[in-house]
Amino acid sequence: MLENLPAQAPDKIIELIGLFKADTRTDKIDLGVGVYKDASGKTPVMRSVKAAERKLLSEQDSKSYVGLMGDLDFCDAMRGLVLGDAVPAGNVVSAQTPGGTGAIRQLYQMIQMGNPDATLWMSDPTWPNHPAIAKSMGIAMETYPYLHPQTLNVDFDAMQATLSKAKPGDVILLHGCCHNPTGANLTLDQWKTLTDTISANKLLPLIDIAYQGFGDGLDEDAAGVRHMAAHVDEMLIAASCSKNFGVYRDRVGVMMAVSTSEAGRALAKGAMAAVNRLNYSFPPDHGAKVVQLVLANDSLRQDWLDELEDMRTGMLGLRTSLADELRRETNSDRFDFIADHRGMFSRLGLTPEQVLRLRDEFGIYMVGDSRINVAGLRQEIIGRLAKAIATVAG
Ligand SMILES: Cc1ncc(COP(=O)(O)O)c(C=O)c1O
Repeated sequence: MLENLPAQAPDKIIELIGLFKADTRTDKIDLGVGVYKDASGKTPVMRSVKAAERKLLSEQDSKSYVGLMGDLDFCDAMRGLVLGDAVPAGNVVSAQTPGGTGAIRQLYQMIQMGNPDATLWMSDPTWPNHPAIAKSMGIAMETYPYLHPQTLNVDFDAMQATLSKAKPGDVILLHGCCHNPTGANLTLDQWKTLTDTISANKLLPLIDIAYQGFGDGLDEDAAGVRHMAAHVDEMLIAASCSKNFGVYRDRVGVMMAVSTSEAGRALAKGAMAAVNRLNYSFPPDHGAKVVQLVLANDSLRQDWLDELEDMRTGMLGLRTSLADELRRETNSDRFDFIADHRGMFSRLGLTPEQVLRLRDEFGIYMVGDSRINVAGLRQEIIGRLAKAIATVAG
């Protein structure tokens, strides 16, 4: 049997990690992998997370199963983090998942259970795992245009025009904030307009929020999602704690269903328990418990907020520096969008050949579509990076 398995295409980012590792140049720069790095190039364990882990280690007296929905206090804390008081707590049902990826996978399965005829609409481009998981499950997909090729900001008119073709019941996948891979985001006014389109056409929004707190602030980043949640009948949300709590390997995430219908919520609750049971029984506890402890304790929460804010402002500073330096090097405003983008990523709009030249001639690694991880920058390399980009793009 094993020899009959279809060969898998290598993952582009994993391949890039290999190439970077094998490069012997000491001044090489990695802007590829999507993890946050601090000024020393490390992906640290956050102070509040470490403190909560110590507390958990000393207080935990059982490793028995928790429950199919996971830690309900964690789920409720995440509801508060994402939705604030936009909708009554009772209108939300949620269950813990292994990371944001797990939440997306589980929600896709629920969509298949509830409306097998739904088409899943996603932005072009989007995080590659969005279509990959849907494809593996046989879910019908369409894309909507997202990035304006000239401005490298959101092409909202094109997006709206395409989404008006979706049929009632179709699912619209949206990035809650900090769009990956582009870094271009909807304004609050655009979220409001989109909410009207979704309601008028009876579409179901599925929000993937994996970078809350990395853009304009914890509440600001969720403002669009909160507005939409308060105005639509139903919404699905996949939230990840990997980035904003730095707990990547602990696999911490949550799926939520927001509904004004009590019957709908009861069935969603049963479906969440079922898909968890079918795929892995109980979601992993450690990371979720740690996040719950951080959010429930005033001083740990404040320390987390402070550290998250440092990460956010650090990335913003790097964006401004790179945009400034590129304005100087190219003598144009062509790359000003980098300062307007938010989150960990920006797509620079370079050709694959230019990306390859950056790698071969300058030891600068980014994903083939010219997505850079802003958190992979350091102030001291920005001058060199801007010069290299100006050389290949000039
Ligand atoms: C857009 C987006 N959604 C979801 C995720 C899920 O992350 P994880 O499964 O590690 O929580 C990521 C991670 O890269 C992402 O970029």
